[in-house]
Amino acid sequence: MIIAIDGPSGVGKGTLAKLLAKKTGYEYLDTGALYRAVTLYMIEKGIDCDDKDSIINQITNISDNELLKLTANPKIREEEVSINVSKIAVYQEVRDFLYDFQVNFSKNPKGAILDGRDIGTVICPDADIKLFITASPQVRALRRHKENKEKGLESDYQEVFRQLKARDERDASRNIAPCKPADGAIIIDTSNLSREQVLEKAMKIIKNKS
Ligand code: DC
Repeated sequence: MIIAIDGPSGVGKGTLAKLLAKKTGYEYLDTGALYRAVTLYMIEKGIDCDDKDSIINQITNISDNELLKLTANPKIREEEVSINVSKIAVYQEVRDFLYDFQVNFSKNPKGAILDGRDIGTVICPDADIKLFITASPQVRALRRHKENKEKGLESDYQEVFRQLKARDERDASRNIAPCKPADGAIIIDTSNLSREQVLEKAMKIIKNKS
């Protein structure tokens, strides 16, 4: 069983995917963390993320083990990585490099849940279940703003909103693997739903399929 979960940033798909993994016992892969891991690797090597040729030269030196180790490094959530990751994610060679890792993961006999931007469209077009999670930009920005404050970080709602809209625009308009619902994806708008309600909807969809 493969469950593909796509959607823009700050929509709560990671939270949903983790809850679903707990309920179903399927293995979970946060594919955004893979792009962040590659970004951190390049930054630590002193490579400029705009320097496509150097990135492509270096990328094949990253082993699967190293990639996994980097995904567990808290530095992948820091601002320097967050700013640079969308540059790295547009290089087709980077996407190709990460493709096999994701496809192999999806074949886990226990069942697999992958979340990202192109899981239902590119990585697992034959997934048993494809979900596309959305919420209005206002709601997503407010959620992110609250999260920042809970973590004790300084946060300005207007600035969070502006950055989120800019990222949406970049992710949706890029030519390579843009963030859009896959054919056959079920769209869940979480703007007016609690975490529990979203989980309940997704569980219903899974039960109907299995
Ligand atoms: O979900 P996230 O914020 O951790 O994703 C980090 C970046 O990676 C973001 O710019 C979108 C990109 N990404 C992607 O292009 N394809 C994926 N499957 C997952 C993430």
